[in-house]
Amino acid sequence: MSKDLSEIVKQIDSDIHSLSSVEIKQKYLSKNGIVTTLFKGIKDISQEEIGEYGKKLNDIKNLLEENIKRRKEEDISEGTQYSIDPTAPFDINSKLTRRPKILDLKGSKHPLMQELENILDIFQRMGFDVMESKQLDDDFHMFESLNFPKGHPARDMYDTFWTQDGFVLPAHTSTMQNRALRKLGPPPIRVVLPGRCFRNEATDASHEHTFYQIEGIYVDKGISFANMLAVIKEYLEKYLETDLDIKVQPSYFPFTEPDTEFVISCPFCSKKGCSTCGYTGWIELMGCGMIHPNVLKAGGIDPLQYSGFAWGVGLDRLTLIKKGIGDIRKLRDGDINFLKQF
Ligand code: FA5
Repeated sequence: MSKDLSEIVKQIDSDIHSLSSVEIKQKYLSKNGIVTTLFKGIKDISQEEIGEYGKKLNDIKNLLEENIKRRKEEDISEGTQYSIDPTAPFDINSKLTRRPKILDLKGSKHPLMQELENILDIFQRMGFDVMESKQLDDDFHMFESLNFPKGHPARDMYDTFWTQDGFVLPAHTSTMQNRALRKLGPPPIRVVLPGRCFRNEATDASHEHTFYQIEGIYVDKGISFANMLAVIKEYLEKYLETDLDIKVQPSYFPFTEPDTEFVISCPFCSKKGCSTCGYTGWIELMGCGMIHPNVLKAGGIDPLQYSGFAWGVGLDRLTLIKKGIGDIRKLRDGDINFLKQF
């Protein structure tokens, strides 16, 4: 056992020189950090070893906490030294007189980007590629390639913004399906496509005019609806860190057949009913379905040989659930006191 700890000490020694204090804290002392996990496993240590092992583990934890504290203090005092006001008419910039206005000078990642990284990490471990979507696109990718011919009434479901010269701000990340099929084909194709979307919406606590979606596509020989349920369930269980019951209910998208809405049991109340799930016990999370043969054809894939599924989930709404945030508009109003909590 002590051998394991000495390896960890070596690892910490090298990480302290290469990682920031925030990264050290995340890697070793966060909820699932290495040292926290070792503490959780202490119950499995034999009676003879437990005393010495526990002491060593405590020493490691204290060492890490001291290091993090010292480096935070250094960061602040460096900030005092280098934070200057170039417009000041006289010397208020000396390190003795000027104090930094915002102590956390290095800033931090926005909660949406933190969650995006977590999600992409899960999919990369599941063997998916990643391709970012475009923020300005065209009619072909927004509609035509997705089986919405000109004049199709379902075009109205995606009311977004157009430039005067005919480009579109994408209302969903499905705009990337055709590009992904063409670029990554022939199958197998496994890719997630995160990106910013825009809709002409009246905003409220769960609707924004600008938000993120993460599209996913899996195409190969013999891919079935059951594969879709398994992949999405596996991803959501990893992301929400709990077992889930799932169900699908009918929906409508011209680019999938059948079209479904993926619904999960509420991860907070286990179907008893709470404010997050609107007291229903269930949360509708995303649209998904088997990719329509016309979409495969438009992407240069033979639908007689291959089949596949796709989904599109809202990153903002997932972030609200994961972080317990009550209003989607908080994610974009730039309130520093709100952002500092993450
Ligand atoms: C779509 O956008 C489809 N492209 C999803 C899809 C992809 C279906 C692939 C089948 C295959 P929908 O309009 O339901 O579907 O949006 C998907 C998700 O985006 C929603 O579940 C929600 O999480 C998020 N979303 C949609 N509109 C908004 C909005 N105004 N504000 C925040 N999130 C939104």
